[in-house]
Amino acid sequence: ITRNYHEKVISHYEKPRNVGSLPKDDIDVGTGLVGAPACGDVMKLQIRVDENGIIKEAKFKTFGCGSAIASSSYMTELVMGRSLEDASKIKNTEIAKELCLPPVKLHCSMLAEDAIRSAIRDYRSKRARLSQAAAAAEASATATAAAQV
Ligand code: FES
Repeated sequence: ITRNYHEKVISHYEKPRNVGSLPKDDIDVGTGLVGAPACGDVMKLQIRVDENGIIKEAKFKTFGCGSAIASSSYMTELVMGRSLEDASKIKNTEIAKELCLPPVKLHCSMLAEDAIRSAIRDYRSKRARLSQAAAAAEASATATAAAQV
């Protein structure tokens, strides 16, 4: 079976980089969990982001074909050290090209693109909720202070 895969796919498949999980409730972690409707494969990709918006760490777990595993492994390598802005622009075609994926395997690399976007969205919405909560707390503290005057 592996004869049909390019050696770069096999390298990532046999020695996947950055397999694992990050604590999804951490405020600096974004989690993307996506599935491919065509084949039912599932990919989880997580990022840890520093205060400057740079991805410091990336982990993945993929239940899927060799190309999907290789795509997510390669994606974690690509995003580390990049800004969220930059990482959100990574296209599946870049991954497919590096791994020499044939056209029938393009959707596997698409999963990695979907997963990083979803992780970034999750991170951003977490931060937005946090700053809303902080603003609400501040407003209520101000209201309490005003009531006490
Ligand atoms: Fe579905 Fe590869 S065959 S992700």
